[in-house]
Amino acid sequence: MSENTQVLLRRRPVGEPVEADFEVVHTPIPTPGPGEVLVRAHYLSLDPYMRGRMSDAKSYAKSVELGEGMEGATVGEVVASHDPRFAPGDLVAGGKGWQRFCAMPGDALRKVDTSIAPLSAYTGLLGMPGLTAWVGLQDIGQPKPGETVMVSAATGAVGQVVGQIAKARGARVVGIAGGQAKCDFAVKELGFDACLDHRGDLGAQLDAACPDGVDVYWENVGGAVQAAVFPRFRDFGRMVMCGMIAQYNTAPGADTSGAAAGPNLGAVVRKRLRIQGFIVFDSGWQRYAQFLAEMDGLIRAGRMRWKEDVVDGLENAPRAFIGMLRGENFGKLVVKV
Ligand SMILES: NC(=O)c1ccc[n+]([C@@H]2O[C@H](COP(=O)([O-])OP(=O)(O)OC[C@H]3O[C@@H](n4cnc5c(N)ncnc54)[C@H](OP(=O)(O)O)[C@@H]3O)[C@@H](O)[C@H]2O)c1
Repeated sequence: MSENTQVLLRRRPVGEPVEADFEVVHTPIPTPGPGEVLVRAHYLSLDPYMRGRMSDAKSYAKSVELGEGMEGATVGEVVASHDPRFAPGDLVAGGKGWQRFCAMPGDALRKVDTSIAPLSAYTGLLGMPGLTAWVGLQDIGQPKPGETVMVSAATGAVGQVVGQIAKARGARVVGIAGGQAKCDFAVKELGFDACLDHRGDLGAQLDAACPDGVDVYWENVGGAVQAAVFPRFRDFGRMVMCGMIAQYNTAPGADTSGAAAGPNLGAVVRKRLRIQGFIVFDSGWQRYAQFLAEMDGLIRAGRMRWKEDVVDGLENAPRAFIGMLRGENFGKLVVKV
């Protein structure tokens, strides 16, 4: 391999991204500077937050500039190192960008232990999405044994971990997912107590599955799913605002009146609800060791299953990413570089 492959942001999408918003280019392999490590990516994580980075709307993180490489996290192998903590052949997480090679400071890399889970799992189960699930449950959801926890995008990268951690803590877990295959997987493979198909009559399914309501709702989706779940909170319910992917392609300034405007928040007072958003990097990575120890225990006890949706080839990353925003991925979406 004598050259790098990178995916650049070529245009800012309006509404749903299209492949022409990206450009695949071949460039020289970067040379690591003092203290830097050259990493060859084996897997690139594709995540919903990347849609926000493609926009120049104000957000909690900087946008990708036009002509710059798309932002992303990779796991891979050290090829060359000017940092004494890393040697060629080390497997690491924390690589940067939709690209085959990156040169970066060693401080931003973590060696990974593939005796716990395979390398690709460090993009999801043991990476940012898994950590997100753990942080949101620790800090906001705080499920108690016997409580009902509901999670949308239930078979996705974050959702599958949320449900299984909540189960391990003694909660009753009900997922919401798109289609029968995903719902069957959530119940039969992930061990959820039930899973509801948001493509059907969600209100009726919610009433049947949760006649006494919901204690914790983990919000990954927003839109019509949120509108259906919100009136079903029990007193003292907690709503973990993790993301609202159904609205990420909404053009800035679009009319969000009507159904998209969301629920009547009066119930927050009446039911003494707690609604809190969070971003995993606020405090998540400082607690990574605690997260990893708990996950290691659950994996070794056979209580953590995991599904990845692996796409072959960096040049196919744009199409896969666009599909994720339509719900086409089944499991953690990852590109085999
Ligand atoms: N706050 C944080 O720090 C943080 C960190 C990581 C992720 N997140 C958020 O967590 C959520 C899940 O992320 P993930 O990485 O786990 O993604 P994911 O669930 O693996 O993939 C996205 C899933 O969202 C659902 N979806 C997509 N478009 C939809 C639509 N229009 N309506 C309803 N459902 C739709 C689909 O599942 P179904 O087919 O099952 O509906 C799709 O498979 C996202 O909102 C993301 O932004 C937040």
